[in-house]
Amino acid sequence: MKIKAAVLNEMSLPAPYVSSKPLKIEEIDLEGPGPGEVLIRVVAAGLCHSDLSVINGDRPRPLPMALGHEASAVVEEVGPFVDDLRPGDPVVSVFVPSCGHCGPCSEGRPALCEPGAAHNGLGDLLTGARRLSRDGKPVNHHLGVSCFAEYAVVSRRSLVPIDKEAPLSIAALMGCAVLTGAGAVFNGGDVRPGGSVAVVGLGGVGLAALLGAVAAGAETIVAVDRLDSKLDAASALGATLVFRADDPDVVAKVKEATRGGVESALEFAGAAKALELAYSITRRGGVTVSAGLPHPDATFALHPVSLVAEERTLKGSYLGSGVPSRDIPRFLALNRRGKLPVEKLLTHRMPLEAINEGFDRLADGTAIRQIVEF
Ligand SMILES: NC(=O)c1ccc[n+]([C@@H]2O[C@H](COP(=O)([O-])OP(=O)(O)OC[C@H]3O[C@@H](n4cnc5c(N)ncnc54)[C@H](O)[C@@H]3O)[C@@H](O)[C@H]2O)c1
Ligand SMILES: [Zn+2]
Ligand SMILES: [Zn+2]
Repeated sequence: MKIKAAVLNEMSLPAPYVSSKPLKIEEIDLEGPGPGEVLIRVVAAGLCHSDLSVINGDRPRPLPMALGHEASAVVEEVGPFVDDLRPGDPVVSVFVPSCGHCGPCSEGRPALCEPGAAHNGLGDLLTGARRLSRDGKPVNHHLGVSCFAEYAVVSRRSLVPIDKEAPLSIAALMGCAVLTGAGAVFNGGDVRPGGSVAVVGLGGVGLAALLGAVAAGAETIVAVDRLDSKLDAASALGATLVFRADDPDVVAKVKEATRGGVESALEFAGAAKALELAYSITRRGGVTVSAGLPHPDATFALHPVSLVAEERTLKGSYLGSGVPSRDIPRFLALNRRGKLPVEKLLTHRMPLEAINEGFDRLADGTAIRQIVEF
C-alpha cells in the first residue's frame, strides 16, 4: 500500500528545520506483514530527542530512513504466526524489539536484546525484513518502528498491547519518554519513599522521570537544566529544588541544599557535561544513572577512587531497564489513577506536515513532548 511518511534522506542539515526541511513528507510503499509481523495504523507519534539526534547527525543511522519510534496505534492486520493480537487491538510501540530467547532476554532484560540491537543498527525489523520502499529501493526502519507515518509494519515483538480504555494520545508517550524516564526511576534508580533524587535534563524523558520520582514518594526532588522554562515546568510537576546547570556554583549549591548530595541522580540530557554534574551531586553511597544518549565520541572523566572510597554506583539505563510488557500497563494504570500525570508533558499536537517545526521546538527547548496525530 501507499503511505505518507516522514523520511530522512540527509543528516546534519542546518537548523532551523522549518527552512532546511530534513524530514520530507513522502508517499512511499509499505508491504503487508510477513510472519511474526503486524500492520498497525498509527494514532499518535511522539517527537523524541533520539529522532533529533539522527536528524542532526549525533546518532548516525543508515539512510534513507523513515523516522519515529514512540507511538500508539491500532492493529490493522496480523501476519502468519501472530496469534495473540487481533485487528482493532490498541498497542504501544517499543523501540527495542526483544527476541525472547537471547542471553539478555532469557535473563529478563529485554532492553538489551542482542538481535534487537543488531537489527535496530541495520535499520530493518527483528524479522530481518524491510517492508518500506520508495521507487523499488528499500527505506530503512527507525528502531523497528518508523511511526511518523500513517501505517507501519513492525515485529510483534516491537508491540505491547494495552487496555482498550487507555487514551491513545497519552499512551504514545509510554513507548519511549515514560518507559525510559519513569522506568529508570523504578527499575534502577534506587528511588525510595522519603528519599532524595536529582533529575538532570528536563525534556520529555527527564520530566517523566521527575513524575516517577513524585509517584515513588521521594521527599527531595532536585531538578537541573540549562533553561529556566524547564525549571518552571519541573517546579509545577513536583520538583522541590531547581538549579541552573550553567550556574558555576551548582554542585556546591545542590550539596548544601541536600546535605551532601542526593541518593540518586539521574541524567536525561544526552551531554557528557550533564552526566559529570549528575555524578558530582550524588552523595556518598549513592547511585548515578545515565539515560541520555550523547554523541558516541563523547567521554567524561571521573576519579575512580570516588567509586571505591565513597561506594558510589554509576550505571546506564536503556529503555527504562525494565520489561516493557509489564511496565507500560503499570504506568498506564498509575496514570489512570492520577499518580503519573504524563498528559502534563504533552505541550503540542500537530499534523505530520508540521513535523519539522516540531523538531525546531524540541531543539530550542520550547516544547516538552509533542505528538503528531493522524
Ligand atoms: N536511555 C534511553 O533508552 C533513551 C530513550 C529515549 C531518549 N533518550 C535520550 O535521552 C535524552 C533526553 O531525551 P528528550 O527527548 O527528553 O530530550 P529533550 O531535548 O526534550 O530534553 C533534553 C533536556 O536536557 C537539557 N540539557 C541539555 N544539556 C544540558 C546540560 N549540559 N545540563 C543540563 N541540562 C541539559 C535541555 O535543555 C533539555 O531540557 C536524549 O539524549 C535522548 O536521546 C534515551
Ligand atoms: Zn525516544
Ligand atoms: Zn533477545
